[in-house]
Parts: sequence; C-alpha cells; structure tokens
Amino acid sequence: MTSVRRIHIDTDAGLDDLLALALAFASPELAVEGITTVAGNVSLEAVTDNARRFLALAGEKVPLGRGAAGPLSLSATDAESFHGADGRGGIALPALEPRELPAAAQVMRQSLEECAVEAVVAIGPLTNVAQLVREDPALFDSAEIVWMGGTLSQGNVTRVAEFNCYADPEAASIVLGSGLSVRLIGLDVTRHVVARAPTLAREPLPPSPLGRFLHEVLATLMRAELPILGEACAVLHDPCAIAAAAQEDLFRYRRRAIEVVVAEGPERGRLRARPGQDGPEVWYAEEVRSDELIELFLGRLVDWSR
Ligand code: RIB
Ligand code: CA
Repeated sequence: MTSVRRIHIDTDAGLDDLLALALAFASPELAVEGITTVAGNVSLEAVTDNARRFLALAGEKVPLGRGAAGPLSLSATDAESFHGADGRGGIALPALEPRELPAAAQVMRQSLEECAVEAVVAIGPLTNVAQLVREDPALFDSAEIVWMGGTLSQGNVTRVAEFNCYADPEAASIVLGSGLSVRLIGLDVTRHVVARAPTLAREPLPPSPLGRFLHEVLATLMRAELPILGEACAVLHDPCAIAAAAQEDLFRYRRRAIEVVVAEGPERGRLRARPGQDGPEVWYAEEVRSDELIELFLGRLVDWSR
C-alpha cells in the first residue's frame, strides 16, 4: 500500500461535510491530523458542535480548532434552509459538556508545522485558510490545498456562484491567487457525483450507532435535495474533496489561472478562468470517475461504521 497521507480538514460541518469527515477516517490512505471549523452552512457554534459530537460518536481523537464566525469582510450568508439550523437536519448526536477549544489558526499551524500534513482539505468557505495564508504563506510550502468550491459552470447559490466561494469570495481570491499549490474540486465535477437509493441499497450501512447516524445523514441529504433537483439523491460535494486527497486519479485536472469576483452583487463569488498563462494557476478538476468514487465512498463507510 502507498504511504499514508497526513491531512488537515477545514469544515463548515453540514450534512455532506459529516459524510466527508467519515470518508476521511474510513480511508486507509489518509491520516487526519487536525480539524478546524468555519462558519458557512450554519453558524460557527453549530458547525463546531457538529464536529465535536461527530468525533465523539466516531471515537476519533483529533485536535479540533474553532475558526472564523463569518467571512473576511463581505456580508455573511448561510445554508440553514438546506442543512437545518443545527447543520445536521435535526439528527441526534451524543451530547457533550461545553469545552473551550483552541483557535483554528493554532490547530491548522500545528497540523502544518508539527504534523507536516501534505494537504489541507477545505470543504467550506476558505476564511480560515486565507487568514493563515496571509499570515504565514511559507507554512503551505510542503502542503497542497484541496478545496471543494467554486464553479465555472452553473452555480448553486446564484446562477454563477457555488456556495463555498459565494460565502467568502475574498478568502477564495486570496487562496487561488496565492501561487500556492491548490487543487480545486468545483461544482463542475461534484454535481455529477450523485448517490441514489438503488446504489445505497446495494451496500446497506450497518445497524451500529455510527452506521445508523450515517444512514440518517444520507437520508436527510436526499430529502433536502428533492425540492431542488426533483429527485431524492445525495450529491457528494465534500466527500469528493476527501476522495481527491486519497486518490488523485479519480479526477482529471487542467492547469488554469482562476480569478474570483469579490464584489457584492449578482456576480459575487463567480470564478473566471483568466486567458493566457499570466498569474498564479491552480489544478482545476474537469472530469471525475463518479461511479468509482461513489463505490469507494459507500464501501469504505460501510466497513468503517461496523
Ligand atoms: O456547494 C457545496 C458546498 O457548500 C459544500 O461544501 C456544502 O457543505 C456547502 O458548504
Ligand atoms: Ca461544506
């Protein structure tokens, strides 16, 4: 087996984020060295609570840091209408005593400096990542940033913007324009990674507490998509970023110079591919082997949650 890749995950723990966290712990190629939370889908409080309680249910002990409560400077937004105000569609998780958590910057720095993670996998707005890139870009010299975010095709918040990019376009602009090693897993590919009932039924999750929780998350995700996509299905946006960190060749990439529309208004959070080769470039995911990714996702979650 290839060597294990140490990663850090930055999340706005909503429904698909929780599936992504599960896939990370279920993937033998990955070792999760740290997790940080950022407001996005729901409030920082709810996101951080979901992350803490999920880790307790999974029995995973990983440093957890509490990050930004909103975007760097633009107006805040959320996706409570989709994920529920608690970010987990009301699904039960074990209650925990409140606890003071370290700052996200400290935990992400620790992951990069002390654990020498090879990737920071961001599955929410890039606010935490952008703040650390601005403070100390050299921290990322030996790590790539794998981000589920953005779109060069149809958006899911507006016609032109994907949620994680729309939520903090200024942060996205800082990271995508940093010249650091960035792999962008956008809506162009994640919208094609759709788990449907017949596939899910082929490999049922075990009746363990963890298996029942993951089953509930998938069912809640499918219900939430029904009025939007017209069918009950789970679009695995955030698990795609974890899968990309675990098995890079599930995607085909193209080197592109990408800029972000930062201003408020109808173009907020829009990505534009800059013509020519001027300026920093990122690896932009253009194709995905979605059936293979879904099989990998389901098989690993079933085995891990037994
Ligand atoms: O556009 C999908 C992204 O926005 C996912 O990260 C989902 O969790 C939401 O944050
Ligand atoms: Ca997310």
